[in-house]
Amino acid sequence: MSLKEKIDILKLPEHIAIIMDGNGRWAKQKGKSRIFGHHHGVTAVRETTEAAAELGVKFLTLYAFSTENWNRPKYEVDSLMKLLVKTINNETKTLNKNNIRLLAIGDLKSLPGNCYEELNDAMRKTAANTRMSLVLALSYSSKWEILDAVKRIVKDGIKTDQIDQELFSSYLTTTGIPDPELLIRTSGEYRISNFLLWQIAYSELYFTQKLWPDFRKEDLYEAIFNYQNRERRFGKTSEQIKQK
Ligand code: FPP
Repeated sequence: MSLKEKIDILKLPEHIAIIMDGNGRWAKQKGKSRIFGHHHGVTAVRETTEAAAELGVKFLTLYAFSTENWNRPKYEVDSLMKLLVKTINNETKTLNKNNIRLLAIGDLKSLPGNCYEELNDAMRKTAANTRMSLVLALSYSSKWEILDAVKRIVKDGIKTDQIDQELFSSYLTTTGIPDPELLIRTSGEYRISNFLLWQIAYSELYFTQKLWPDFRKEDLYEAIFNYQNRERRFGKTSEQIKQK
């Protein structure tokens, strides 16, 4: 039985989020520039998106560029932005063919003008697609997102007794997107790196040694299979969960 066949389709995570890490190290191992690693990272993005959609996952969120990534050398930032524009441009047709909607979270207005326009254009063109949403986290960080939500709540004059988890969630850039049940990080680092801190309160965390450019469909199946063999208790006891 293949790993894919072992996955229980009835217990799929509705939302998987991924911290794609290790492009730089992958390239270094091959004696190449970091940019080479990012280019090969696109193949992993394509494979993972295809695998998630084929299984029936409804939301796939990819951490493509963090607020902190702006501090990388200018050459690397510029190359990543160019790659992003090129990839979005190249893949919009394929997204439509596969009924996949493109969404983005983060401080999108801080992106270079052409990148922001390309992104908005692709989101508009794929807006009616219903099979899966591919969510790109761009110029994203949780601390930025949470502060931005607090500022807008105050600006809107919301009274303290109106503020609950639901209202707060609706002010985050992920509004309308369910919290991820599964968060994957590649490259053997055990960190969250300012990603979806509010939304992963009860997510299952999965870490793999694989560097992102080497991540393939089988690696996604492995993560989902591992997730399906865990007991999610949400603060309750094991006995309470089994009684359900
Ligand atoms: C982390 O590896 C990766 C990134 C900061 C960028 C991710 C971008 C891509 C995979 C390409 C474009 C993506 C899309 C969605 C079109 P790193 O550079 O931090 O690697 P290192 O930790 O080994 O240095």
